[in-house]
Amino acid sequence: PVPVVLDCDPGHDDALALLLAHADPRLDLRAVTVVHGNQTVDRCLRNALAVCTVAGITGVPVARGADRPLVRPLRVAADIHGESGLDGPLLPEPTVRADDRDAVTLLADTLRAADEPVTVVATGALTNVALLLRAHPALRDRVREVVWMGGSTGRGNIQPLAEANAANDPEAAAEVLDALPLTMVGLDLTHQALVTPEVVARFTALGTPVGTLCAELMTFFGDRYAEVFGMTDPPLHDPVAVAMVADPTLVRTVRANLVVETQGRWTAGATVVDLDRVTGRPDTATVGLELRVGAFFDLLLDAVATYR
Ligand code: BDR
Ligand code: CA
Repeated sequence: PVPVVLDCDPGHDDALALLLAHADPRLDLRAVTVVHGNQTVDRCLRNALAVCTVAGITGVPVARGADRPLVRPLRVAADIHGESGLDGPLLPEPTVRADDRDAVTLLADTLRAADEPVTVVATGALTNVALLLRAHPALRDRVREVVWMGGSTGRGNIQPLAEANAANDPEAAAEVLDALPLTMVGLDLTHQALVTPEVVARFTALGTPVGTLCAELMTFFGDRYAEVFGMTDPPLHDPVAVAMVADPTLVRTVRANLVVETQGRWTAGATVVDLDRVTGRPDTATVGLELRVGAFFDLLLDAVATYR
């Protein structure tokens, strides 16, 4: 299996990404680190631990990370994820405890201990990964690549031209892109992974606590997307990044020049992708463009079904 760490901000779609990362047999989830984003880092950490508690995930260290972006003020997404960051289901008091280490230390220890380079799946702002690189620049060789849910080749979702994970910490995204191989799982892909009522029904039909949790999470998330974006079926962003590490054939990708706008007055956090090769700049990233949607949901459901 591919050794992975998951850096996340649960978050409804992050919760499903965590469940998938732990359950898919092609992945070996070595650590979970939590970053600010959908809510404060403390709420996101609590949510990660609550999901682990419901699912019985006890052997994976979970650590608290950055409580704010590198330079910009904290911005949370209560309109989409609620005041807890994981509104909807009634979650238990977590019995799984957070690791004593902070996220950067846990990431560094995990990279050092691994016998091969580790894939970092990031489903929030890239603050923790940037801080890891600042603190331990030599460890960049221990990272195989960063597969990041963030960005877009076109329109954004928090700004007209910026996706939330990119806009929340553009400076971190730019630093990570400069230092590490990066695959962008942007809105281009994730807006193909729409959670239809049939998908929710498949979670419910599992008849397990984790299946019910997924259905309840997706119902709340869908209601918020309907209200905020007028979308009937919400896009399941974060699990797409995990799934494509488990099965790279799920996604058609291209190599392209990607830069992150950190200066723009109206466009900070825009991920500028030169798909048409008009700039002559070198390729800097792999960019996902097309998802095999049916296969993606089958993979996700198979993974969630393993929780009894
Ligand atoms: C991203 O922003 C967060 O709200 C989601 O968890 C996802 O990672 C989508 O723009
Ligand atoms: Ca997220």
